[in-house]
Amino acid sequence: MQIQPPTINIFEKAVRKAGRHLLRDFGEIENLQIQSKTIGDFVTNADLKIEKILLETLQYYYPTATYLTEESGKIEGDQEIIVIDPIDGTTNFIHGIPLFGIVVGKILNKEITDGVIYNPILDEFYWASKGKGAWCNNKRLRVSKRHDLMSCIIGTGIPHANRVYSNYLDHIDTITTSCSGLRRLGAASIDLAFVASGKLDAYWEKNLNLWDLSAGVLLVKEAGGKISETDGNSWTIESKDTLASNGLIHDLIQAKLNKI
Ligand code: 2AM
Ligand code: CA
Repeated sequence: MQIQPPTINIFEKAVRKAGRHLLRDFGEIENLQIQSKTIGDFVTNADLKIEKILLETLQYYYPTATYLTEESGKIEGDQEIIVIDPIDGTTNFIHGIPLFGIVVGKILNKEITDGVIYNPILDEFYWASKGKGAWCNNKRLRVSKRHDLMSCIIGTGIPHANRVYSNYLDHIDTITTSCSGLRRLGAASIDLAFVASGKLDAYWEKNLNLWDLSAGVLLVKEAGGKISETDGNSWTIESKDTLASNGLIHDLIQAKLNKI
């Protein structure tokens, strides 16, 4: 078993505390389903509350860091950036689907150095630290070894509401006809954690934010996988469009996505 670096210990403390609250809120959701009007407010409050709990713990240990959060925006500080998504997969959370994550990542000099994803429902705690590997509940993670696309399962995010882009159906068409099946889990962090775990062989999604991606991108890299933008360009912390894979099928998927 790998000894956790101090940053990961602190992040774990923060997400587990937040997770206990989120677990209680998840239990409440079922009661609220009947009063659909109140559910929006409830979830907004849950997001804000979870973020506040995370910030309380993290700011105690890292008082001078810059914080980039989904709900409170940017809190200016020094060059160390801590990125927070209190509930990644909010729509799943609202619908009682147990696939969502509390995500915290650390960035220094434009590089993700540490990250954690915690799913309090499955009690899965994922962490990665640069050069220390990717882990889930004390188990080392490795990407899959599948190289025949026809035996691969690929995750994606299907854009919704006003976020559709013109050729997303062509992308889905070209990949779904060349693999063993598509999955649309609804939480980018969980998709990336599953690529790192070798459950999904690849995953792509467009128009994401750094707080959805930070920890998951490092998990995939540390599990031996590959990350780029969907068009094959190098992934940076400014990237929105992301392709993650086991490395072996990366170029093939990228070529298929870019033929259209
Ligand atoms: P969220 O639940 O934190 O919003 C699913 O396709 C992924 O897209 C999830 O990680 C989800 O994160 C993100 N997502 C959903 N709506 C979004 C929006 N309006 N803008 C950016 N990302 C969004
Ligand atoms: Ca998110």
